[in-house]
Amino acid sequence: MVLNLICCHNPKKDIHPLTKSWEIAVPNQELPEGLSSLSAKQCGVCHQKHYEEWKMSTHAHAWTDLQFQAELKKESSPFMCINCHIPLQNQQEYIVEGLIGGDIYKPVKKKNPYFDKKLQQEGINCAGCHVRNNVVIGPTGTAKAPHKTIKDTVHLSEKLCISCHNASAVITPTLACTFETGDEWKAGPYFGKKNCISCHMEAIEREIVSGYGKRLSHYHFFPGSGIPKIDSVETNMLNGLGFYPSTLKSTYYKMDSIVFTLKVKNEFAGHKVPTGDPERFFNISFALKNAAGEILATKTERIGEQWEWHPAAKKITDNNLLPTEERNFNFSYLPIKKEKLALAVKVTKHRLNKQSAEFNKLGDNYPLFITVFEEEYFTQVK
Ligand code: HEC
Ligand code: HEC
Ligand code: HEC
Ligand code: HEC
Ligand code: HEC
Repeated sequence: MVLNLICCHNPKKDIHPLTKSWEIAVPNQELPEGLSSLSAKQCGVCHQKHYEEWKMSTHAHAWTDLQFQAELKKESSPFMCINCHIPLQNQQEYIVEGLIGGDIYKPVKKKNPYFDKKLQQEGINCAGCHVRNNVVIGPTGTAKAPHKTIKDTVHLSEKLCISCHNASAVITPTLACTFETGDEWKAGPYFGKKNCISCHMEAIEREIVSGYGKRLSHYHFFPGSGIPKIDSVETNMLNGLGFYPSTLKSTYYKMDSIVFTLKVKNEFAGHKVPTGDPERFFNISFALKNAAGEILATKTERIGEQWEWHPAAKKITDNNLLPTEERNFNFSYLPIKKEKLALAVKVTKHRLNKQSAEFNKLGDNYPLFITVFEEEYFTQVK
């Protein structure tokens, strides 16, 4: 009997260590000296503006987001989904020590004695970016702060952003994770000139704590697509695309082809547009109407990725615009009647499509898209 036990399969031996960055949470943090809590709310008692801005950001909603919660509940979602959405171990109920047989659906878990449910609700909070080794990390290491602070500009650089905004892995045959914003930026014309922080965290001179005097600071809204989530915000950040419409002549003759071109340029983004989540896309639509409002012709084109999920996750097409890339979208029509015509041209930017929103039961208040260009052009056919 005893012999049998020794000879038999020992499950401990089969536990594989975690290796990928997104399989590992930021280790449990003790409170940095001088602070009474790791929560953003507490940082916000002194850093009021940073707190108000961050609260409007999608980072603050990375855990509570309806779509994230819907997807997390699916059986196909593995444990490591949470590591970029609630990065601190203190925000996670369990500590994952390894994977049985290397299987991502068989994590070896133990209860986390430091788990703080309030902290979990805050998603990617201040401490998630600013606290490491039980110390607040800042750009200067100022001695004015009442909390233990060190300077680490390597940690607080685009490297931090890329640690979450770049992951490429086929997790299971039908589940793939592809965010390649970091690689797109590195391969493009902005590398070495402007980075994630210079575009997404606009610099400003201001007090970072009231009464301490002005210094270099950065807005913490983290604006991106501009498609608002529950509390999102309008900022000075531009849309990625610039639009250059052609015109219509004031008159055309019957059987004289009407041709219209909308030139679209990825003018302001340091990576592809759209980037990140493969569900994002743009629609470019044209609709030609007569004076009675009847639609004579329509055309819709799409910028975005197309994926096939079964039997295996595979990217089929990707016509996302590279930084500075231009593309022409053409509409043409052969008029056969003398009449007044109006051409409506519209570009919409989508977070996800309707079917996916319905599938995840996101409800009517979840914004799916915004309109980024809308014009009407008139002409007369003689
Ligand atoms: C009791 C008030 C108070 C609280 C609470 C507080 N801070 Fe500070 N913090 C300060 C002061 C004061 C400074 C220095 C102000 C200055 O340099 O003008 C500072 C500076 C900083 C800096 C800049 C450091 C640098 O290197 O320049 C960062 C980053 C920072 N705090 C982050 C945080 C975070 C994150 C939290 C919450 C976990 C937090 N603070 C909580 C008062 C506070
Ligand atoms: C701990 C992981 C993590 C880090 C670090 C991180 N992000 Fe994010 N970021 C996310 C996640 C997750 C979301 C999506 C949240 C959601 O939509 O619920 C996001 C969303 C965004 C968005 C908004 C996208 C939109 O919907 O328009 C921008 C912009 C952004 N991040 C920029 C940055 C920048 C710049 C940095 C570096 C200073 C950074 N992020 C660091 C995980 C991270
Ligand atoms: C997604 C990561 C991220 C989150 C979340 C975040 N910060 Fe920052 N923060 C940064 C980066 C990066 C810088 C440095 C920008 C630079 O100097 O280039 C910074 C700079 C700062 C500074 C120095 C002054 C300034 O504005 O540049 C303070 C203070 C600060 N953050 C406080 C906070 C507080 C308080 C919160 C939460 C309410 C917070 N941060 C959330 C990434 C983050
Ligand atoms: C030259 C400025 C610039 C740089 C550099 C830049 N971005 Fe952006 N980013 C933008 C603009 C503009 C948009 C809005 C694109 C649009 O219209 O959808 C955007 C959008 C995003 C979005 C939202 C997704 C989307 O498709 O709209 C995320 C996430 C993001 N950026 C992350 C990053 C990260 C991470 C880095 C660094 C690796 C980075 N950005 C570097 C300008 C920049
Ligand atoms: C490597 C870090 C990372 C991991 C791991 C990760 N995410 Fe994310 N997630 C992100 C980032 C970054 C964004 C924002 C992407 C963007 O907008 O470009 C995001 C956004 C999302 C969004 C919001 C999409 C939107 O359009 O607003 C959902 C939902 C989501 N993730 C679900 C998941 C699920 C489910 C898993 C596990 C299968 C997962 N994430 C694992 C980094 C990660």
